[in-house]
Amino acid sequence: MGPPIIGNSKNIQRVRELINHVAHTGLNTVIFGESGVGKEVVAQNLYKNSPRLGKPFIKINCAALPEGLLESELFGYEKGAFTGAEQKRRGKFQLAHGGVLLLDEIGDMSLPLQAKLLHVLQSGEFAPLGSEKDVKTDTWIIAATNHDLKQNINEGKFREDLYYRLNIIKIHITPLRERPEDIIPLIEYYINEYSSQLNSEHIEKPNQQVIDRLTAYPWPGNVRELQNILKRMLVLGNCDQILEDLFDNANKNINASDPDSPVDERSANISSILDLSGKNSPDNETFSLKGAKKQAVDLVEREIISHVLGKTGWNRSKASKILKISYKTLLYKISDLGIVPPA
Ligand SMILES: Nc1ncnc2c1ncn2[C@@H]1O[C@H](COP(=O)(O)OP(=O)(O)OP(=O)(O)O)[C@@H](O)[C@H]1O
Ligand SMILES: [Mg+2]
Repeated sequence: MGPPIIGNSKNIQRVRELINHVAHTGLNTVIFGESGVGKEVVAQNLYKNSPRLGKPFIKINCAALPEGLLESELFGYEKGAFTGAEQKRRGKFQLAHGGVLLLDEIGDMSLPLQAKLLHVLQSGEFAPLGSEKDVKTDTWIIAATNHDLKQNINEGKFREDLYYRLNIIKIHITPLRERPEDIIPLIEYYINEYSSQLNSEHIEKPNQQVIDRLTAYPWPGNVRELQNILKRMLVLGNCDQILEDLFDNANKNINASDPDSPVDERSANISSILDLSGKNSPDNETFSLKGAKKQAVDLVEREIISHVLGKTGWNRSKASKILKISYKTLLYKISDLGIVPPA
């Protein structure tokens, strides 16, 4: 289950040390870090090193479900507890009994559910929906979040008492761009992994020059983005083109997000899409309207997202709210569109 934790940076060494200290204690733990930094891997490694190994490891994403559904998923329900409850159903707390329950994206849990969770943590018991009887639970709660929970508390979105209950042990994972020395060990580990998974006869491994350039890239999508690029390189083989795209997007965005960059330079991108006499001309055999449309949409999205990120000082949580998209979608777009913080 899950890979070992790769990396030699101070941060990753500290994370491994914490895992060794905490795993046998079963103390409530919160793992903090941006999307794709490895919060779930850390939770899996806590479990693998704990006496609970072999018991269930259950994960639930608190951001993905509406409040009512999350409540019934967590605590289960009796037959007839609500319209549509035709069968009794066990919740994640029951399923995780004796093992680990990973509450992913805990910062997105609603206040009423936070109150219910606090009660479970205090009493070690809960009642499934529609049941009078409390059920005992022995579950190791590990939570993960990409929010600053302290800030959520100040904004009245997270209960302080729950914070102190959950957060007995804190594990912070720093973004990959702040620990570039981990990039090469990660590349080596994943190239080995993927080479044995993929048909290795057709694989062109990236050369030293490619690896050097990968080390210089800021990886807004962290290890997940690195994995995606490596897979693409191994499968498609044309490392240079993939690298060019990666850095091209990154550079374009430095221009786009810089308010001082001349407007001409920015609209030059639009002209290149609408270049009716050049390479994007419909007279050209390689022209595709779909392709041009995608380029145009990407360009507009990149401009808007860069602008909002610039305005919020790269506070992605705030930016996702302004843009009315989920935090995850924003991170995906930042990575996909190659938006990087201004140098
Ligand atoms: N230090 C590491 N060593 C090996 N693999 C890693 C490491 N960090 C992350 N990964 C891998 O990167 C991918 C993303 O990691 P993970 O899912 O744990 O991130 P996350 O922080 O939970 O992201 P999200 O907030 O988006 O859920 C996974 O496939 C994971 O195995
Ligand atoms: Mg995760």
